[in-house]
Amino acid sequence: MFLDATDLEGIQMTATIDVLHPERPKRVLLVVANPAASPTTGWPVGFWWAELTHPYWEFVEHGYEVTLASPEGGAVVADGFSDPEDVSGYSAHDLLSLGFKKSPAHAALLEQTVALSEVDVDAYDAVFLVGGQSPMVTFRGNEKLKEITGEREGPLGRSLYLARPIKITDQGCLSCHTTPEIAPASVVKAYGSSNGYGWKLNEIIGAQIVTVPMAVPFQMAQTAFRTLLASLVGVFVFILVFLNILLWFVVIRPIKRLSSMADAVSTGNLDVPAVPVSGHDEVAALAGSFNRMRISLGKALKMLEDE
Ligand code: HEC
Repeated sequence: MFLDATDLEGIQMTATIDVLHPERPKRVLLVVANPAASPTTGWPVGFWWAELTHPYWEFVEHGYEVTLASPEGGAVVADGFSDPEDVSGYSAHDLLSLGFKKSPAHAALLEQTVALSEVDVDAYDAVFLVGGQSPMVTFRGNEKLKEITGEREGPLGRSLYLARPIKITDQGCLSCHTTPEIAPASVVKAYGSSNGYGWKLNEIIGAQIVTVPMAVPFQMAQTAFRTLLASLVGVFVFILVFLNILLWFVVIRPIKRLSSMADAVSTGNLDVPAVPVSGHDEVAALAGSFNRMRISLGKALKMLEDE
């Protein structure tokens, strides 16, 4: 169990403003870094108070539901200098953080953040990463903060999104992205020397976020379905016509000939020409039998006439 904004309803200090769908408040996942040690100073590092409490306050005031999570879950610790009560006085002006810290219900939120492995990211409308010293150490290359995909509601209807870190895995990228001195002069001239440098191999250097309106894949699926349907109908019609023609030449026409010969013979007209026999199928055998019968009949009649 973890606390979120709904558990704090009784102690909200400001009225909720401007809620579009009160029956389904928007949900925000605030990801706070777990405590760590700085690799440069060895000092303990954590999240920055103001970077947690100010966005939190802004979201909650606007009617959002906020859940506090962290990559590993559990208690999180703030950077000393960001603490409004720190002896340095560095953040003494931060009354919002002071209030958060002094409100037992709010302070309790920091004792029991949800682990990212237990979070269903799709249940949230936004993910917000809280800054501080620790994120610089613990967020970079963090496997639990990796690719997320899903659907969301946008101004153009539902859309699919994919968000994933960009990791430098190719040594070739560094020829331009290490320092302006190393990068090709023409590239530096065209794009400047301030941005996109200092990257290292296997480091995550950015995020790629792709959004595609659902209408596009739906339309593609519909077009593909129509094409498939049309070609199926086409093939079906072709087979039908082909089978009919085949049936006409192989079965119906020879049998019609036989039946008209049988008709003629039955009315005593024995001068009808023999039915042409071609092939070795059943119809050809039948035609052969008919031809022989016609000749036998002629002979029999002739014998009767001779007597
Ligand atoms: C020939 C030089 C060159 C190489 C090689 C190169 N890049 Fe770049 N890259 C640039 C330049 C120039 C820009 C800035 C483009 C701009 O501002 O429009 C840039 C921008 C970027 C950006 C956007 C950065 C930002 O802050 O907006 C990313 C991400 C990126 N490159 C990734 C890569 C990756 C990954 C590789 C290797 C597979 C790579 N680059 C290889 C020259 C290069």
